[in-house]
Amino acid sequence: MARAEFSMVAVCLIIVLTYNQVKSVKGGESLSNVGVNWGALASHPMDPYIVTNMLKDNGIKKVKLFDADPWTVSAFAGTDIEIMVGIPNDQLSKFANSLSDAEDWVKENITKHLQNNLVNIRYVAVGNEPFLKSYGASFVKTTFPAMQNILKAIDKAGFGDKVKVTTALNADVYESNSNKPSDGDFRNDIRDVMNQILQFLHDRNSPFLVNIYPFLSLYQSEGFPEDFAFFDTQSRTIDDKNVQYSNVFDANLDTLVWALKKAGYPEMTIVVGEIGWPTDGDKNANTKNAKRFYQGFLKKMATKKGTPMLPGPMNVYLFSLFDENLKSIEPGNFERHWGIFRYDGQSKFPIDFSGNGEDKWPEGAKGVRYQENKWCVLSKEVKNMSLVPEALDYACAGADCTSLGYGSSCGNLGIAGNASYAFNQYFQTRDQSVEACDFNGLASIVTTDPSDGTCFFPIEIESAGDMITSMRLVTSFFIGLSIFFVTL
Ligand SMILES: *[C@@H]1O[C@H](CO)[C@@H](O)[C@H](O)[C@H]1NC(C)=O
Ligand SMILES: *[C@@H]1O[C@H](CO)[C@@H](O)[C@H](O)[C@H]1NC(C)=O
Ligand SMILES: *[C@@H]1O[C@H](CO)[C@@H](O)[C@H](O)[C@H]1NC(C)=O
Repeated sequence: MARAEFSMVAVCLIIVLTYNQVKSVKGGESLSNVGVNWGALASHPMDPYIVTNMLKDNGIKKVKLFDADPWTVSAFAGTDIEIMVGIPNDQLSKFANSLSDAEDWVKENITKHLQNNLVNIRYVAVGNEPFLKSYGASFVKTTFPAMQNILKAIDKAGFGDKVKVTTALNADVYESNSNKPSDGDFRNDIRDVMNQILQFLHDRNSPFLVNIYPFLSLYQSEGFPEDFAFFDTQSRTIDDKNVQYSNVFDANLDTLVWALKKAGYPEMTIVVGEIGWPTDGDKNANTKNAKRFYQGFLKKMATKKGTPMLPGPMNVYLFSLFDENLKSIEPGNFERHWGIFRYDGQSKFPIDFSGNGEDKWPEGAKGVRYQENKWCVLSKEVKNMSLVPEALDYACAGADCTSLGYGSSCGNLGIAGNASYAFNQYFQTRDQSVEACDFNGLASIVTTDPSDGTCFFPIEIESAGDMITSMRLVTSFFIGLSIFFVTL
């Protein structure tokens, strides 16, 4: 048996090595300073091994995660992709209050991967936008002590030079009362903790990580000049001390540069932790605008010119890799549609990661396993619609209906179409279980695709749990195979 196991490992190893070699031959060209965020708030998260191959196919070299899920992080073993892991806000008080919990976290989520240089982890983001205005003071007291304890634990583990500790901050930690960047300053209510964090980042030469959203500038203010959210016109400018700003990204980032200058840290490295454009759930969220935004932004990154106050190349992480159907929609219906790729890793619009601005479709995920070709819709038999609204509400309470709103991809379906869309979402999210397509007899399963124009009725992918099962099956196949060889 021991020999059998050995040859199973050997067979697998050979297959993995060959596969990786074949894979690494191709690979799109991508700007080395542009990474992607990969969030996993989805009912059916993608298989991490499929995702790492997809990232390689697109030449992407940096990934930012929101936690340190071991299956996900392990999938980067043996790749040269640089990883930033995260600690979610709900863990901050734990690590703020206990150094030994922080040490356990580092042992399990850093040391294990860095031993033998398996995974190239370079950053830990402690907290995700913890000082967001809408969170009030929830994380103001715990973020900094948690950063300190995680850093202490990393130092103790001997990785203090390799892994930098920071926190991901929303651009709402600073403001300008005149809208001119030069009046930029940190928010008054968090000034003290910001000063502590700045000193901490400065001492360890860690970057200031900031999330900047031109889309939200447009979404949140009625009169916002649309072109100012993009990078391809000079039509509207802010004049600030004779510097001209023709896009809100530059103006926003330079507001931070000024705030850092005032706080006494003019040299601090800034990394853009999130920037992107959603494709659904709002009248301005569509693939046309997303394509325009990314094309302008990536071309700008390729010039390495930076902003007026921060000239030179900068590191950025696009937001985001995939749509996430379990994200909170409190900020808006667009929140579940930030993916450059769909929920299943297929491309939505042309995007040229090299920054050359070509009309190029990115490489989609390969080897994704889908559920059957089945959809759940409002039954043709239903003539009396009086019970439909209630069923529709029920379906939407248990599944993602954010594409149904005004100006969205399924915004013109009518009541029957709305019901079909909602029923299908509910059905797919529950792995096409027959019981999930009933709705008191209002619904029925069909095998012809009900998608209609811009409105796409998805089929869910197999959930990660099924993936693990099928991986086990593959493994037992190899065990069987190798036993067979050994017997020969
Ligand atoms: C490691 O990270 C994972 C995912 O973020 C988390 O669930 C787990 O609790 C962490 N381990 C420790 C020992 O804190
Ligand atoms: C439609 O169904 C409702 C609820 O069952 C019922 O009260 C109503 O009379 C029905 N309308 C027609 C036109 O049959
Ligand atoms: C379909 O659903 C959307 C989103 O809830 C709503 O705005 C629209 O009015 C609905 N259409 C009908 C005909 O009920």
